[in-house]
Amino acid sequence: MTETTTNAMWGGRFAAGPDAIMEAINASIGFDKRLAKQDIDGSRAHAAMLAATGILSDSDAEAIREGLLTVLSEIEGGSFRFSTALEDIHMNVEARLKEVIGEPAGRLHTGRSRNDQVATDFKLWVRDQIDAAIAGLEALMRALLAQAEAGADWVMPGFTHLQTAQPVTWGHHMMAYVEMFARDRSRFIDARARMNECPLGAAALAGTSFPIDREMTARALGFDRPAANSLDAVSDRDFALEFLAAASICAMHLSRFAEELVIWSSAQFRFVRLSDRFSTGSSIMPQKKNPDAAELIRAKIGRIFGANVALMTVMKGLPLAYSKDMQEDKEQVFDAADNLMLALAAMEGMVRDMSANRAALEAAAGSGFSTATDLADWLVRVLGLPFREAHHVTGALVAMAEQGGVDLPDLSLEQMRSVHPGITADIFDVLGVHNSVASRMSYGGTAPEQVRAQVARWKEQLA
Ligand code: ARG
Repeated sequence: MTETTTNAMWGGRFAAGPDAIMEAINASIGFDKRLAKQDIDGSRAHAAMLAATGILSDSDAEAIREGLLTVLSEIEGGSFRFSTALEDIHMNVEARLKEVIGEPAGRLHTGRSRNDQVATDFKLWVRDQIDAAIAGLEALMRALLAQAEAGADWVMPGFTHLQTAQPVTWGHHMMAYVEMFARDRSRFIDARARMNECPLGAAALAGTSFPIDREMTARALGFDRPAANSLDAVSDRDFALEFLAAASICAMHLSRFAEELVIWSSAQFRFVRLSDRFSTGSSIMPQKKNPDAAELIRAKIGRIFGANVALMTVMKGLPLAYSKDMQEDKEQVFDAADNLMLALAAMEGMVRDMSANRAALEAAAGSGFSTATDLADWLVRVLGLPFREAHHVTGALVAMAEQGGVDLPDLSLEQMRSVHPGITADIFDVLGVHNSVASRMSYGGTAPEQVRAQVARWKEQLA
């Protein structure tokens, strides 16, 4: 049992200081020091409002303002000494402010509590991360658009069940990810709009008897308005959960794409070459070039979704308003945000640098009877067969080709006519992969013309 001196902030009611274990479980300074900038921004807005409303004298407010800037520069310069005994970033900053400016520091906490303070700081931090995620997604979308534009008419196999299905274009495949990342971007934009209400001034839970101006602090901190219910304001962590939910879906998309890059860069596929800058070698096998960045991106969903589940579990069952459980929100969100930003940046770099192997893509596009559907469609369109019958005839032709060890375009007209006598030579037009993709002109289809239209649309939207 260690007994330290009683607490400077609430020593009035306490005869003894906390046990060392109590201090260890209670302190958050080890991680919430990352909120220093937001904490000081919040305090500056609060102090300016206290002066504007006459709650604080102008000279005290000025001393606090100057003092907070000094504390911020100490923190940013690395000379600040964080103390575990002072629990968290809020009390560390305030205690240092007292050392720097003396008595006026004690007036800063008028009309607020650490409960609205931490909610405000954390919201400001999450809001910055949302902005960073949006910027990261836009950079990644631009890299994908460049790939799609270059290869709008390069053919490759399209898969279902990872079995060759129908030929598609490289540009179309890239643009599928543009759509996914665009939805991620819009989820972050939605979350940002919903979260942008300021908790500051909710005080501990019930509001305050001081004549504070919450509109003023909300505006100063870039919020749209003050949060309308003080109980909700201090106990709400939806903004963090929405960030984690959007981050989880985004990480899931990144993971799917990463998996494709791992498959595509293998010696069996050779669809893409990843740059040396985003690959590693093997310490024992000289020939190896490993897609480590893609593999790590593929794995990041684990910790990001884990953070989402962890915070949901922390919040479930908490009665109103603040409970110390909520201090467990930060590390999860910090870790998820750090790893999401890293994954987005790494994916952008990989996509920007990678080169598609056009010849390998084209060779694979024609294998596996990928134009069988085109053949069936021809039988419907030209011979007027019902689709089910056309499907059957085509199946017989595929079986014939498979037996002969050839692809569909290698069958002779006689062989084809032995299955259905109505077939004529112009069926061969639809068996080529380029004709196949060019024919898929329906809106959102894989035809190069459609892909180019989508590239143009997205370029305009991102401009
Ligand atoms: N470190 C605390 C947290 O992160 C700050 C709020 C503490 N409030 C309190 N009433 N003990 O949640």
